[in-house]
Amino acid sequence: MIERIEVALGDRSYEILVGEGLLGQAGRLIKPHLKEPRAFVVTDDRVAELHLLALQRALEGEGIAPRPVIVPAGEGSKDFEHLQRLLDALLDERIERGSLLLALGGGVIGDLAGFAASILLRGIGFVQLPTTLLAQVDSAVGGKTGINTRHGKNLVGSFHQPRLVLADIDALSTLPRREFLAGYAEVVKYGLINDPEFFAWLDDHASAIRDGDRAARRRAVAKSCAAKAAIVARDEKESGERALLNLGHTFGHALEAECGYGDEILHGEAVAMGMCLAFDLSVQLGLSPLEDAERVRRHLAMAGLPTGFEAFPQRIWDPDRLIQHMRQDKKVSGGRIGFVLARGIGRAFLHREVEIDELRKLLAEAIAEAQ
Ligand code: NAD
Ligand code: GLY
Repeated sequence: MIERIEVALGDRSYEILVGEGLLGQAGRLIKPHLKEPRAFVVTDDRVAELHLLALQRALEGEGIAPRPVIVPAGEGSKDFEHLQRLLDALLDERIERGSLLLALGGGVIGDLAGFAASILLRGIGFVQLPTTLLAQVDSAVGGKTGINTRHGKNLVGSFHQPRLVLADIDALSTLPRREFLAGYAEVVKYGLINDPEFFAWLDDHASAIRDGDRAARRRAVAKSCAAKAAIVARDEKESGERALLNLGHTFGHALEAECGYGDEILHGEAVAMGMCLAFDLSVQLGLSPLEDAERVRRHLAMAGLPTGFEAFPQRIWDPDRLIQHMRQDKKVSGGRIGFVLARGIGRAFLHREVEIDELRKLLAEAIAEAQ
């Protein structure tokens, strides 16, 4: 079964298809978007080993010649050097304005290939073929693309919407469990932002989703994509509501930055902890019932995600250093740290007035609990 979700952006509208076996049908599904009998596939070496052959066969079955470009797996490929190599490889192949780039992989590939597509020949079309849960429910949808610089993550990029997103649930079966769980944190995020019924459904289905139930996974991915699509359609360039998608991210980015963006802590793991802290802060400020914060923490812990500082190395247990990172966040405006807080589960909102002393108190208490 395939679920279809529209991202309604006028003449740049596109569909997200969520279902089983979609990579095997990619030739047929992508063909209407092609102007030439070839397609450029950008992927990483790990995903290439697991899923490139299926995609190539599907393309060839429809008379489309695949032109793969393979980059090393990992965040390190999201930099100027790899971007330049990718652009040169595509130009060597005489890529044209009407050519289509297919991004097969996780968020790293989607962001890198999407950015390349946005600047190559002043902008060509691209299709997202996300293979991690994080990419399926978040990064492949909404058109944010970009790379990292020595100043920080995602600081150079563009908004460039894909022409189509194919989220093949079966691709998730090869994903390491830890990567899957990290993506699951972003699924929970949608329930916490504005959909308490979805959160309740996740409470009942978290183990089925984690253990590979395909229908439950399809539902979770499709619901998440629909939630993100609705927000992006209302606020594509993040002038307001789209910032709600950063629930847990201001704390999460600080934790990630302190840990050093390696394997020690994955983005989704930091976001899980960040969402707990956002709810704790909401309780501390008298905005959210304690019971809701406890439900959030219980759910994430039950799913196998970090919810306390004990899951993080002791060297980062320092409120002032974490606050320093939050001050450098992209979301800082006019010197104030923007936070997504909540009046309860499903009632997230943007708050710009958090006092540094409140943050210090919150972090000191959370660290004390882990000691
Ligand atoms: P990733 O792309 O690095 O993938 C994680 C690892 O899983 C990689 O080693 C990859 O090779 C491997 N992998 C991918 N699919 C696999 C599969 N099906 N089976 C086995 N292994 C597989 O990481 P990610 O978590 O998908 O994405 C993180 C990136 O996404 C970050 O760079 C982040 O900044 C970006 N991001 C972007 C947005 C956006 O809106 N553009 C949103 C969130 C995150
Ligand atoms: N991942 C946040 C956004 O797409 O806006």
